[in-house]
Amino acid sequence: MRVLVTGAAGYVGQQLVPRLLAQGHQVRVLVREARPARGPAWPAPVDVAVGDLTDSTSLASVFDRIDAAYYLVHSLRTAGDFAARDRAAAENFARAAPRLGRVIYLGGIPHRAPRPSAYLDSRVEVGRILRSTCPVTEFRAGPLIGAGSAPFDLLCRLTQRLPLIVAPRSILNAIQPIAAPDALRYLLLALERDAPGVFEIGAEALSVKQMLRICAEIYGLKRVIVPAPLPGALALRLIPLLVPIRQHVARHFIEAIAHPVLADTRPAQAVFPEVQPLPFRQAAELALA
Ligand SMILES: NC(=O)c1ccc[n+]([C@@H]2O[C@H](COP(=O)([O-])OP(=O)(O)OC[C@H]3O[C@@H](n4cnc5c(N)ncnc54)[C@H](OP(=O)(O)O)[C@@H]3O)[C@@H](O)[C@H]2O)c1
Repeated sequence: MRVLVTGAAGYVGQQLVPRLLAQGHQVRVLVREARPARGPAWPAPVDVAVGDLTDSTSLASVFDRIDAAYYLVHSLRTAGDFAARDRAAAENFARAAPRLGRVIYLGGIPHRAPRPSAYLDSRVEVGRILRSTCPVTEFRAGPLIGAGSAPFDLLCRLTQRLPLIVAPRSILNAIQPIAAPDALRYLLLALERDAPGVFEIGAEALSVKQMLRICAEIYGLKRVIVPAPLPGALALRLIPLLVPIRQHVARHFIEAIAHPVLADTRPAQAVFPEVQPLPFRQAAELALA
């Protein structure tokens, strides 16, 4: 197939493109910089289209002769009103791509609780906008476990840096991570399978405290992890002092774990039964190897 990958220079996109090439697909990437800031230059068979999804004039011929597209874009890394930017980007994509046979989007699992997370809500909104003009297979995932994935890097850095981790009680909330290679398998299978719909994906549920403990065990480090009645606002000020992370990114991680984030994986298991997500410990061992 002729496949467009948006967000190709990001963490997921950079791993997806070589897998698509290996499966014999023709790949066009939509990127804001012709040469990726992180990682190597695009290999020769990749058709590089330079454009910005928030600027519709830059998308003129991006969708020409494309059968299917991946939507792997979010602007959390940039400060300011990321939700408005992500809304504009999704609207421009949907307007420019109405005749696409298939769009595959990796978003996030929303909270079922009344106090929302702006980031997770924005991920759901993007899926809704894409569906307004295209058949969409939307995967909703918790944190991706892989070296270079922002939430996993944060876990690793906190574990390495702090012998005593005093953290808000929300680290006891259950969330459902997924190994990055498993998420990539879902993304690839969706191209073969005509399966529009929303699929929540993830391995076993566990708390951030359990994940920190497992990371410490893998590193062979002794760590004391104390959930405390620490206000989120204080944690927000402390985290960027301890690990290299921007404050607005830290805020969205703290908001995202303020409630349990659990996936209903039954629809994904029914349609993609060959993917049996790795347990967190194995995923983390693989990522850190
Ligand atoms: N990583 C995770 O743990 C995780 C978990 C669940 C779901 N997801 C979902 O997976 C998808 C990809 O995430 P990721 O971790 O790969 O993110 P990432 O590394 O931050 O990559 C995001 C990509 O989006 C691109 N982008 C942002 N604004 C754009 C715009 N206006 N026009 C064109 N491109 C734009 C960025 O381009 P530049 O390179 O130019 O900045 C970047 O390459 C997202 O939808 C995210 O919600 C990720």
